[in-house]
Parts: sequence; C-alpha cells; structure tokens
Amino acid sequence: MSSFPFRRMRRLRQNRAMREMLAETHVTRHGLVQPLFVCDGDAIERPIGSLPGQAQFSCDRIGERAKQIQDAGVPAVMLFGVPDNKDPEGSGSVDPAGVVPRAIRAISEAASELIIIGDVCLCEFTDHGHCGILQNGDVDNDATLDVLAHQAQVLADAGCDIVAPSAMADGQVQAIRERLDAAEHQNVLILSYAAKYASAFYGPFRDAAQSTPSSGDRRGYQMDSRNSREAMQEVALDIDEGADIVMVKPGLPYLDIVARIHDAFEVPVASYHVSGEWAQLQAAADKGWIDGDQAYLESLDSLRRAGASIIVTYGAEKAVSLIENR
Ligand code: PBG
Repeated sequence: MSSFPFRRMRRLRQNRAMREMLAETHVTRHGLVQPLFVCDGDAIERPIGSLPGQAQFSCDRIGERAKQIQDAGVPAVMLFGVPDNKDPEGSGSVDPAGVVPRAIRAISEAASELIIIGDVCLCEFTDHGHCGILQNGDVDNDATLDVLAHQAQVLADAGCDIVAPSAMADGQVQAIRERLDAAEHQNVLILSYAAKYASAFYGPFRDAAQSTPSSGDRRGYQMDSRNSREAMQEVALDIDEGADIVMVKPGLPYLDIVARIHDAFEVPVASYHVSGEWAQLQAAADKGWIDGDQAYLESLDSLRRAGASIIVTYGAEKAVSLIENR
C-alpha cells in the first residue's frame, strides 16, 4: 500500500547529481558572446561608469583583452566602435582604416580562434546619434542601406566573421548580403537584430558608445514593446533576405518573443542581455540586495530555456566559470 503523495516531484531534485542529470537545458560556453568597445587613441583602457567591469580599449590594447577572453573559453566577441570624429553621414563607419577594422586586425592577430562579430549601425559614427542618415529629422531608410552595406563590406574585408546589422532599417539584410556576395564574402554570416525593441534598458550602452540621439528617440525604427506578432514578421522578412541567425533584444523582458521565434522558425536564435540588465544586477548586488552571480546565472538559464542558443552578455567570462561550477 503506497501512502499519499504517491507521486513525489522532490525525488527529481534530491541532490546535485540528480539535478544535473535531469536539467532540461544547459547554458554552455559555446554560445556566449562578449561585447567590446574599441576607441581611437593609444594606451587607453577607460572604465565605463554605468557598465561595471567594462571598459573602452584602444586598438593597441584590444588584442590583449581579446586574448584573455579567448583563454577564458569564450568563443566570440562583438565589436562596437567609439571613434573620436563623428559627422552627419557617419563616414567613419566605412573607413577601412577606422577604429573597428583596426581592432578586427589586432584581435585576429592576438586571439586567432575568436569569432569576431561586428556591429553594423551608424549610431556610433554619426554626430546626431541616430542609426542612419537623417533627412528632415527622420532616418532616410533607403539612403541608409547603402552605407550599412558598405560598412559591412569594410568589416568583412578586415576579417570579421559575422556582421550584425542593428540599425532596424528595412531591407538592410538583403542589401548587406548582396554587397558581401559581390565582394566574395559568401562565408561571412549575417546575425540580424531582427526584433530590436525601442528600450530604456540600452541606457548604459549609450553612455559606453557615446551614441545617445541628440534629438528625438528611436521609436520610429525600433519596435514597440507592446508587440510580438510584429516581431514574427520582422524575423520572417530577415530570413527571406538572407539572415543566418536572428536576434531578439533586450533579453529578459522579451523571453516570450525568443520562445515564439524559436518555436516557429528553424534558424538559430540569439538573445542580447543588454547593458541596462547587466547594470541592474551589478547595482543591486553592490547594495547587497541580491546575490549578483546567482541572479546572473539564473538570467542566462532563462534565456537558454526560452530558446536562445547564442547569448550576447557583458559577463561572458564570469558566465563560463559560473556554469562550470554550478
Ligand atoms: C546600436 C546598438 C545599441 C545596442 C547595441 N547596438 C543601442 C541602441 O540601439 O541604442 C545596445 C546594447 C546594450 O544596451 O547593451 N548600434
């Protein structure tokens, strides 16, 4: 005669070995991507106040930083440029001798196994801080496409393995794919920020990349946080245009979007655990209000569980050790 309760779920959780065996998902180091900010100048390692643990590095220092990341077991980095000179056209974005192409070459040399992902967007290069070319105060979509495609080619020429368009310009993936193929960069992947939401969680990044729009906001091109059906359209279009990997951004506030996309499409799904999410964890941990490491690991678990196999995160090196020692 069995006693009540017959079915005991706690049997499944009784010790660490059992929990590991029965875990439905595992975050692995293989999908982690560390963002890096590269700036003009020499011998610079400038900490970013609103992004604890992160810094801007000049190109003579970025190789050493990349080597640490590679040695920690993180397979990929995502580069953002912080140039000294900005103009209305973002012309620094297509300069083969610009800050990002130089950083790509330095990283390839110092850490040859790293996958290098380059952000394709104009906001870091324009003096007005918008993601494209302005026409009467609004981003001119079609004029922006040429520059984005050109930027992607310059990054690929320098040795970038994956380009990641984040400008939310319609048609950007196709424009980039055509340009890359014409330049014999068929093997360069496109990771598209397919569902990028207009978000308050980007605050610290804009500090780090000095890319806050000087007027207006990005709601005219980035998505509205109330929408998920629209994200499905964005993803379908980007896959049609040639995206190899699609990304949802920010991370935790948009788990439902990651899950829907993962279930409906057969391409790899990435999630960007963004600057504001990272800053929140650090700030609360500093005050002693949460266990920062455990809250961070739980965040990564949630993104993986929702369906993200690639996670862009500011704590990639720490994540490797948290995963290995959980
Ligand atoms: C735009 C870009 C942004 C981020 C990544 N790429 C900022 C924006 O759209 O304002 C944000 C990343 C983060 O907050 O960590 N090139």
